[in-house]
Amino acid sequence: MANAPTTQKIPVADWFDPRAAMRDPYPLFARLRAMGPVVHASAVNRVFVTTHAAVAEAEQRPEIFSSQSETNVTMVRALGGRPMLRKDDPDHATERSAINPTLRPRAVTQVWSPQFAENVELWIDALLEVGPEHADLNRDFAAPVASQNLIDMLGFPAEIDVEDMRRWSTSYIAGIGNLLDDPDIWRRADESQAEVNAVLDELLPQLSAAPNGSVTSHLLQVGLPEEAVRANAHLTISGGMNEPQHMITNLVWALSTHPDQRETVLSGEVAWGDVFEEAARWQSPIGMVPREVAQDTEFHGAFLPAGTNMGLLLASANRDTDVFPDADSFDVRRAARGHLAFGSGVHMCAGRWAAKNAIAEHALPRLYERIPTLRLATDRAPSWDGWVFRGITSLPVTW
Ligand code: HEM
Repeated sequence: MANAPTTQKIPVADWFDPRAAMRDPYPLFARLRAMGPVVHASAVNRVFVTTHAAVAEAEQRPEIFSSQSETNVTMVRALGGRPMLRKDDPDHATERSAINPTLRPRAVTQVWSPQFAENVELWIDALLEVGPEHADLNRDFAAPVASQNLIDMLGFPAEIDVEDMRRWSTSYIAGIGNLLDDPDIWRRADESQAEVNAVLDELLPQLSAAPNGSVTSHLLQVGLPEEAVRANAHLTISGGMNEPQHMITNLVWALSTHPDQRETVLSGEVAWGDVFEEAARWQSPIGMVPREVAQDTEFHGAFLPAGTNMGLLLASANRDTDVFPDADSFDVRRAARGHLAFGSGVHMCAGRWAAKNAIAEHALPRLYERIPTLRLATDRAPSWDGWVFRGITSLPVTW
């Protein structure tokens, strides 16, 4: 019966504390899932979607779960413009189709893969130079590799330093997550915007005159307004460095803390591509993506009025035991197919093939080939941070 009173009151997780989630969100996600697929979290004024089935469904219904929010605007503020990730189709599709050709598997293999290979060798050399007493895998390898790969994909000039790219990406990510409006975080995002815009001021006329295969050039070639080109270049900087960096450190941490699985992988029994997918599922670099309800709707038994601020918990969906048995365990032998670490639906990550190629074909295999005794340092502790964006900020290693 169409109008049957099926809607229940949305359960309220008044105990959800974002500061506790920063330390370790997974026990909180488990508690949220136990409350149901749709749960209100008062502390962040958001309705969370917690289970795999519900998150996947919400991603497939962008006409209800819209990205074009006028209230979820930290990303627009941090990047100084509205990128594709905060638009709905057809506007989103126009911008997304501009960058797809240069990020599809064929282009990744032919154009970017040789470049990624070169960058990895250089930064393994640099890591070896730092030496086993002081090395930090994030600072000395993951961050510079991810930054250099992105400098290349964006077609930014060779003199841009990896440290610049790291700073820009980090300050954008902090801005996108700046739900508490910290003025210092906005200041850093503004400074990065100004620096990136200065690079684009010179680069855009050059690319107009002489187009190339870079992401920035592709954005220009389809004739998007300049503000859209800039907003999407800033977007690519925010996600294109931070997440791959976290995937590299997460993978080394996961293998180091599971020595038997490390042996399995290094003996060649499991493909690096499968290890990559399992690590993305188990420690998802993006924990939550925001949406806004576009029209009154019933969803998994809950009534959601238009304007409701939603959070799709990708990282929680990836620990749902209905889809992934023993989901809290890292298991390189599991087929992690269907995980939502890259989202799904129209906004599914544009850079996922590039990230997988850079990390599973180059960074990780070469790291273990060249430093077979790589392991965590026992005299210095790693540090984790975040739940909307989560990763290891420092991973002391030795060999
Ligand atoms: C392991 C690394 C990465 C992870 C985990 C990741 C994850 C994600 C997620 C979860 C989304 C949003 C999906 C949604 O809202 O449904 C996204 C979108 C996006 N990502 Fe990634 N990403 C990664 C690497 C990259 C790289 C390397 C690039 C660029 C070179 C990139 C470019 C983008 C773009 C442009 C979007 C917006 C797509 C759209 O709105 O259509 N990402 N990514």
